Amino acid sequence: MKSVLRILTFLLVALLGSPLSPAAAAELAAGAKLAAQRCAKCHGKTGAGDGPGLKKINADVVPVDWRNRALMAKWSDEAMGRIIREGGKAVGKSDVMPRYRGKLTDAQIEDLITFIRSLAR
Ligand code: HEC
Repeated sequence: MKSVLRILTFLLVALLGSPLSPAAAAELAAGAKLAAQRCAKCHGKTGAGDGPGLKKINADVVPVDWRNRALMAKWSDEAMGRIIREGGKAVGKSDVMPRYRGKLTDAQIEDLITFIRSLAR
């Protein structure tokens, strides 16, 4: 599956002449897929922080809009890795943000961070 994704993104990159290396493009594609599967219900399809899951549980917190470069500049890759691994509560944020330690590999978390970063404009 992953290799199919690699080939597809490689072709896409070749066609579009993107400056991304095939490896970076594959990371991005893998991160996008994971985010759609596991994060969009809260963080929203576009990363705006408006997923339906938050309303469902009446969450009293709003995640940062991942598309907002200025706001996301306050989040280092390390800090993002930490909140994804350990969950919100462990880093002094809301426990609505789940912990993914043991559920996602380090490589998957890297892919997610690459994807989240790519959204900021
Ligand atoms: C059940 C809802 C929920 C799910 C699912 C969820 N998050 Fe979150 N996440 C939150 C909330 C709420 C916050 C804000 C916490 C705060 O500010 O106190 C947050 C915060 C974050 C932050 C810090 C920046 C920000 O957006 O505020 C990152 C990075 C993050 N989440 C990544 C992820 C990733 C990656 C996934 C999927 C693997 C994910 N989250 C899944 C609810 C969720």
